[in-house]
Amino acid sequence: MVDLNDVRALRALDGGHMLRLIGELPDQLRAGWRNAAAVNLPAAYGRARRILILGMGGSAIGGDLLRGLVAARCPVPIMVHRDYSLPAWVADSASETLVIASSHSGNTEETLTACHEAREKGAHLIALTTGGELAARARAWGIPLVLYRYASPPRAALGYSFVSLLALLVRLGFLPDLQPELEEAASLLEAMRPTLAEERPLSENPAKELALSLVGRVPVIFGAGALATVARRWKCQFNENSKTWAMWEELPEADHNTVVGTNFPAEGIGRLTALFLADPQEDARTALRRRATADLLSEAGIACRTLTARGEGLLARMFSLIFLGDYVSCYLALAQGADPTPIPPIDRLKALLAAAR
Ligand code: F6R
Repeated sequence: MVDLNDVRALRALDGGHMLRLIGELPDQLRAGWRNAAAVNLPAAYGRARRILILGMGGSAIGGDLLRGLVAARCPVPIMVHRDYSLPAWVADSASETLVIASSHSGNTEETLTACHEAREKGAHLIALTTGGELAARARAWGIPLVLYRYASPPRAALGYSFVSLLALLVRLGFLPDLQPELEEAASLLEAMRPTLAEERPLSENPAKELALSLVGRVPVIFGAGALATVARRWKCQFNENSKTWAMWEELPEADHNTVVGTNFPAEGIGRLTALFLADPQEDARTALRRRATADLLSEAGIACRTLTARGEGLLARMFSLIFLGDYVSCYLALAQGADPTPIPPIDRLKALLAAAR
């Protein structure tokens, strides 16, 4: 196992500089806002009655986080679509539907197929990408294109992919000005950064400490409300960065099924660590439920940990946990001698699918 206090060893292993990219998240949040402010948007887009975000993996999660963040503030429904064909309702209400196609590479076939269908059905369309086929199509179709430049894997560009969506919805009048909340989040992450950085020793670094406790274990991340979307982000980062099996669960739903599945297989259950994401501003029932669920799982022999969000606004609270989880996933990879950046199985699947076209 790699010593998480050996900074030189960590840097040597981290070939794709994932730790540096994670540390840039606060800067990305600000840059993403500025970048989306420059795009021209037709006034009719602001009259849409539903919003559909197309994307996969690291480009879809920004849509989930947005949905979680603004659930109590956005007057129209926001849905995230991770598939080829669109649901039938889009055809019936295309002129009232805003579709935002988000693909970091611009070349993800599910997103491109769904985007093409949205265009054919006459939905209001926006493209969000660094380039590729999606940018080419947006230019050919003359639809708004939010283009950002950031050399990283898609999952490490969350600041751009998430904030671009947020900024678009604010600019179209669906949301109040959330820039102060965004600024609070960026400042909070800057304040957290030294404590989570690779130079900070294990004994004083909560991300390294948590990562070490997860070696050889399967993390299951629980979140309620907006933090359910953060739980999903943690799961995906454990998969892609740490090369680890992981699951995410949503409360209160997990209390109606997951809590019963704790007997078999006994060896498997003993390997789980439940990570509960807690919001200091959660309502009393949610807090009670979260604690009771953790008690129940502990009694069943499942190791439980609680990670509490920081910050005032919901955006800061969500991103304080995202930032922590990103670092944890990276240290978990490094502790086990893995470079967090490469994702060979995803590359292989994309190549196989492309070859069979
Ligand atoms: C890679 C990653 C993947 C991609 C997904 C879609 O870092 O996070 O989940 O995001 O394969 O690709 P893009 O984002 O290019 O549309």
